[in-house]
Amino acid sequence: MTDLLAKVQANAHRLDVYVGDHRVGTLERQGAAGSVFAYLPDVGRNDFASLLMPVRLESYAVPSALIPTFQQNLPEGFLRRKITERFGKVLATDDFVLLALTGANPIGRQRVVPSGFARNWAGPLQVDIDALMGDSKAGSLFAELLDRYIGFGVSGALPKVLVQGRATIHDEHWILKAGDDKLPGLAVNEFFTMRAAQCAGLPVPQFKLAENGTLLAVKRFDHDALGNALGFEDFCALLAMPPERKYGGTMERIFKAIDAYADGPRRLEAKETLVAAHLFCMAAGNTDAHLKNFGLVYADASDVRLAPMFDMVTTKVYPQYKNDIPAISVAGKKLQAPDKTFVRFAQERAGLTQARLREMAQRVAAGLEEASAEMAVHSRAHPAFKPIGAGMAREWAAGIKLLSYFDAPPKRALSAP
Ligand SMILES: Nc1ncnc2c1ncn2[C@@H]1O[C@H](COP(=O)(O)OP(=O)(O)OP(=O)(O)O)[C@@H](O)[C@H]1O
Ligand SMILES: [Mg+2]
Repeated sequence: MTDLLAKVQANAHRLDVYVGDHRVGTLERQGAAGSVFAYLPDVGRNDFASLLMPVRLESYAVPSALIPTFQQNLPEGFLRRKITERFGKVLATDDFVLLALTGANPIGRQRVVPSGFARNWAGPLQVDIDALMGDSKAGSLFAELLDRYIGFGVSGALPKVLVQGRATIHDEHWILKAGDDKLPGLAVNEFFTMRAAQCAGLPVPQFKLAENGTLLAVKRFDHDALGNALGFEDFCALLAMPPERKYGGTMERIFKAIDAYADGPRRLEAKETLVAAHLFCMAAGNTDAHLKNFGLVYADASDVRLAPMFDMVTTKVYPQYKNDIPAISVAGKKLQAPDKTFVRFAQERAGLTQARLREMAQRVAAGLEEASAEMAVHSRAHPAFKPIGAGMAREWAAGIKLLSYFDAPPKRALSAP
């Protein structure tokens, strides 16, 4: 292992970039912290490494950082600390080395490996997902998986592993997520918040809760029905922003990115879904729906659509987030509740009528109510979850009241501008 890591480090200044099976270009360090990416000659138009980087002869460079698209899946939080703890003696872990270590096994269709390494030198761990999720020791099995970890190209604060499980037709790809001590009951919280989103009619990937409530498994949406990797770029990367600016997003800029890359009905659908998601997050008490928690998914440039919803959590149930403000602003404001600014935005930028917005609010309220009833059943069977479950139900009930804004709006608020 030490030899392998030393080899990664030694070759990390120059990385080979693949899209699917095709080697498409080279990413190199430039100066102390800069980076430059160049396509190889004769790369097909559809083998672009990012929607922001169409295939061309001229190279792409950022003078003082890694090019944003290559920062998207760099480990953050728990996984980043884990790499430093485990490999810190062998690896000096700057962004380039982290990418060299994690880029063979990332979210999305882009693979990045140290020059000369095989495209698939590191891959997802093979796991019997159903058996793991049903095991009373799921938490410690997950910890063992983390210890077998070499490098997963996946962002986010929480512990997670990328796994591959056998299915009838092809292998399925899943993300397993665990909570942390400061956020009790997180996996169950995320499960029921995702369930509420699903009941509200928002698109979500398949997800499962471990029987003992310690883990959430979310099926990866960056693979098609045949198991081929699809492109996925989060809005942070699409706006050429580094991950640390994920709370600096505006809905207006997200819509601009949608206008730039998605066509026709998919464009409208994406905007409408994001308006509904924003409404859902306000009502569900999710203040962590930042730029890296939404993105575009595609097989090629003519097929760009909004990715399904993920990482929906009732953050406000935890005292440290009780008074938190939303992650994305609308018309310059971090809105805690629907108001005339929100309505005007939805009308002008997403073309939604009053009737449509009212119907959307009703669906969100119904989704929260349905999931709340299911959560109450779960809480009765799992008393340890009761306090968090009750707190979530209170947040949602307050959120449903906010949605009644659409039932009896002040006339002025809904009049056309
Ligand atoms: N179902 C999925 N399919 C493909 N990629 C996904 C899926 N769910 C999450 N991702 C990717 O993994 C990243 C991390 O996942 P997620 O946001 O759930 O983790 P987290 O640790 O809760 O993040 P945060 O730091 O926002 O709390 C996402 O930003 C996205 O790039
Ligand atoms: Mg996230």
